[in-house]
Amino acid sequence: RYNGNNTASDKGDSMKTTVNGIDIKYDDVGPADAPALIFIHGFPLNRTMWQPQMEALKGRYRLIAYDLRGHGESSLGEEDFTMERFVQDLLGLMEALRIEKATLCALSMGGYIALNAAESHPERFNALVLCDTQCSADTPEGKAKRNTAIKAVQRDGVEPFAEGLLGKLFAPGSFETNPQAVAAAREMITATSALSLERSLRAMRERDETCSKLPSITVPVLVVVGEADKISPPESARYLHENIEHSRLAVIKNAGHLSNLENPDAFNDALKSFLDTLAK
Ligand code: MLT
Repeated sequence: RYNGNNTASDKGDSMKTTVNGIDIKYDDVGPADAPALIFIHGFPLNRTMWQPQMEALKGRYRLIAYDLRGHGESSLGEEDFTMERFVQDLLGLMEALRIEKATLCALSMGGYIALNAAESHPERFNALVLCDTQCSADTPEGKAKRNTAIKAVQRDGVEPFAEGLLGKLFAPGSFETNPQAVAAAREMITATSALSLERSLRAMRERDETCSKLPSITVPVLVVVGEADKISPPESARYLHENIEHSRLAVIKNAGHLSNLENPDAFNDALKSFLDTLAK
């Protein structure tokens, strides 16, 4: 499968590879021959959001967390973002790392990418963990909100956008109980360029629905959602669970949209027990 176009170079802890003409930064931890688990972060965050899971699962899997183009330390590139382009980057990364088949653990926009990848390349994935995400396309109101957000970012820059978004990402209680997670998310968002935000907002605005494709997903799926998720609420998770045959649902208490960061213990328990079922 490896066609030699994408090259991975080892630079210590985190690594970089060139995929589809852009630099993708990633962490690759654990035995190369262990089952691969690839983490896909949400908008507009980066691979460091998966630190609690990378820590908890160390040793048992080949754990890969990468920065989507335009996020974290990956380059922005010249082209617009689309879900298809994000999927091509994922496949390019898998090729560079010589991973034939992987389990994906993906949150929110990462989940949109995972659902698209599973739809177009089902043979490359042996299980999915779909966190705080949904299969619907944007409604007309949703599209209008994306346009307002794009204009606000162009006019006012990233910082005010970050403050507004933080209020939606977290469960109200998390600001008191988990200020470190809020600070980490603020840092990730403000490190993202305005142009990258605009491109992701457009990509999400233009994304197709994947709900009609859920019945064709045959691999085991864990659907995870924070009980107080306002962006992809528990109803969206229940819809995924009800329409994916081999799926289970974990509702995470004391968590909003960033369930893996807000309640890592409960999230990791759900993730580990799902992964244990795959090993059998
Ligand atoms: C995300 O967390 O990735 C995004 O907020 C999802 C969205 O806006 O649709």
